[in-house]
Amino acid sequence: MQADTDQALYSRLTALRREIARHDHAYYLLNAPLIPDAEYDRLMRELLDIEAGHPEWVAPDSPSQRVGGAPLAGFAEVRHAVPMLSLDNAMDEAELADFDRRARERLGKEAIDYNAEPKIDGLAISLRYEDGLLVRAATRGDGERGEDVTANARTVHAIPLRLMGEGWPKVLEVRGEVYMPRSGLAALNARLEKAGEKALDRDASPKGAGQGRTAFANPRNAAAGSLRQLDSRITATRPLSFFAYGWGEVAWMEAEGRNPGGETDTQAGQLPDSAALHPGYKTMPERHSAMLAQLRDWGLPVNPLNALVQGAAGAHDYAARILALRDALDYDIDGAVFKVDRLADQQALGFVARAPRWAVAFKFPPEEELTELLGVDWQVGRTGALTPVARLAPVHVGGVVVSNATLHNMDQIRQKDVRIGDTVIVRRAGDVIPEIVGSVAERRPKDAREILAPTACPVCGSHVEQVEGEAVARCTGGLYCPAQRREAIRHFAARRAMDIDGLGEKIIAQLDEAGRVKRLDDLYRLKLDDLAALDRMAEKSARNLLDALEKSKHTTLARFLYALGIREVGEATAQALARHFGGLEPLLKADIDNLMQVADVGPVVAAHINGFFAEPHNREVIDGLLAAGIHWDAPAEPVGAQPLAGKTYVITGTLRDMTRDEARVALEALGAKVTDSVSKKTTAVIAGEAAGSKLAKATMLGIPVLDDAGLADLLGGD
Ligand code: IVH
Repeated sequence: MQADTDQALYSRLTALRREIARHDHAYYLLNAPLIPDAEYDRLMRELLDIEAGHPEWVAPDSPSQRVGGAPLAGFAEVRHAVPMLSLDNAMDEAELADFDRRARERLGKEAIDYNAEPKIDGLAISLRYEDGLLVRAATRGDGERGEDVTANARTVHAIPLRLMGEGWPKVLEVRGEVYMPRSGLAALNARLEKAGEKALDRDASPKGAGQGRTAFANPRNAAAGSLRQLDSRITATRPLSFFAYGWGEVAWMEAEGRNPGGETDTQAGQLPDSAALHPGYKTMPERHSAMLAQLRDWGLPVNPLNALVQGAAGAHDYAARILALRDALDYDIDGAVFKVDRLADQQALGFVARAPRWAVAFKFPPEEELTELLGVDWQVGRTGALTPVARLAPVHVGGVVVSNATLHNMDQIRQKDVRIGDTVIVRRAGDVIPEIVGSVAERRPKDAREILAPTACPVCGSHVEQVEGEAVARCTGGLYCPAQRREAIRHFAARRAMDIDGLGEKIIAQLDEAGRVKRLDDLYRLKLDDLAALDRMAEKSARNLLDALEKSKHTTLARFLYALGIREVGEATAQALARHFGGLEPLLKADIDNLMQVADVGPVVAAHINGFFAEPHNREVIDGLLAAGIHWDAPAEPVGAQPLAGKTYVITGTLRDMTRDEARVALEALGAKVTDSVSKKTTAVIAGEAAGSKLAKATMLGIPVLDDAGLADLLGGD
């Protein structure tokens, strides 16, 4: 009886493994997910549950092994059965033609077919499969010996833990490049910066190895730093991927007609699944391109841009095509690789020193260059954030002349230790704006000057605030600063703020261009003629807008405060402020300590509020708005019971009895906070019909989930 249930459970486990591997393949290799993330998570949880009950069933090819394991003291050394070679470079068209000519002469051929491939800028890895199972992964090292990074490679979802399909050799060493997608790097850096996590980059960085940094300079360093982590659980959190481009040892077994491998787990002590035997081993294809196609059929990702080309001309055309695509790709490439396609020809050509005579790398212009930092300008964004922009001695990077690059913020300037006069490393990759990666310490001139954030806004002269714990310096003249004007008006007019119907983005832009609204209070001075003069504005719409402006004057204190667009003062905080202070006057007089008495207002928000009201320009605008006739009723009596004070909810999906907005208002009336994203701080998630990723996240974090009835219970109190 027990044996029967075990057999059933074990079958379910192997089915789950196959199913999850199939979804990994669809998601990571085909870029075509078959099921939503939540469903994938459910399969994974079911598998983890079964393995938790039967630790003896955990196998190296189980998807559960992708989460990483205990940290290592160091990497073991691996001797490559077949050395990992490097490539000779061709720097221009003539060198490419030379390569082709030499190969033709040696082979005595008129023309050669090449398999053309993008040269991925990551790091080389060798994956050893025995009987279809991934048994070892090693870095290139010096080509003869590398480091054993098996635990880390297992966390890379694009690397199959077991080969798919059939007919694979007894031993197969797959060679390829581990890389980090550009989008993955951006997300990783944002995360590292937020968490202040130290990215200990063991790869040679511009400033030398071993320096703690909170961000990786480029995808290559990020891939190397992540793959060579002693703690594979950290590697598991890094968005690494993989492309196969070659192979090392390949041992096709003596053909016996049957393949003993397959997709089933037949480890000692385990219950074998129904043994699905495969047809016999295949034999070595005759062409490099055919072998790569074979690798793809076995579940290994092969770059979709690979193509067969003819001769030096075909190769050069291909390189030009790939170069044109370079910016649009989500991974860095530093060239194109051309490989003689016929394997017999490869063998005939052989090797010189450490590189094959049958392959060449055509190098693209580098995406990082050195130049001099001439000065720094400060740009003011729509939200008042001041961004330092480096002025550079013009330099060619990635095919264009770069003379400006972002330095992001003061924290980054300090971290990268950049000064005016320094020789800096500029990177321009993809369609991302050029950025400064770091400075070259040895080349710092004596008179290099420190970069200082301005104390007054370069656009409007308002005070610049640098809140403790925030990297970004900001102009506090939110209502007054021309750089922030359009955004300030848009926010002011929004439905949940002053609710000025008809004052949309296009009209705001026109009013701004015409110089009609220099400050928010100018809105209430607009005349019919001003509006009717705008593009595509009929008199009727102009009248409607004037009516809407008039109507908006009667509002609530909470809406007015929210409409001012003070940083981090959302609707809930605006309501709390209105409730707490009861009127505008006491709020204007409040100091940071007074402000921190308000529920939900911490030191950062208090500093934003205080800084905003301390800026005389903003006070002028507020006075102007009040003079224009904006008013509100005395706030409702301090609210009675606040049974949900201190609780935070997220509402998702379609509710049965009310809209999400109505539910939010009702919850807030009871003192609750309603946010958009699920975190550990969320008290509960209220999930209606068709709830998606937020519900999944709540389940994952173990946060209570309420349905319509649960919501009704919560609200039932009043
Ligand atoms: S073939 C025997 N193909 O470039 C030939 N290498 O400088 C071995 N690389 O260490 C390399 N993309 O890390 C080859 N499509 C590609 C490649 C590629 C990137 C890297 C690889 C290698 C280095 C050679």
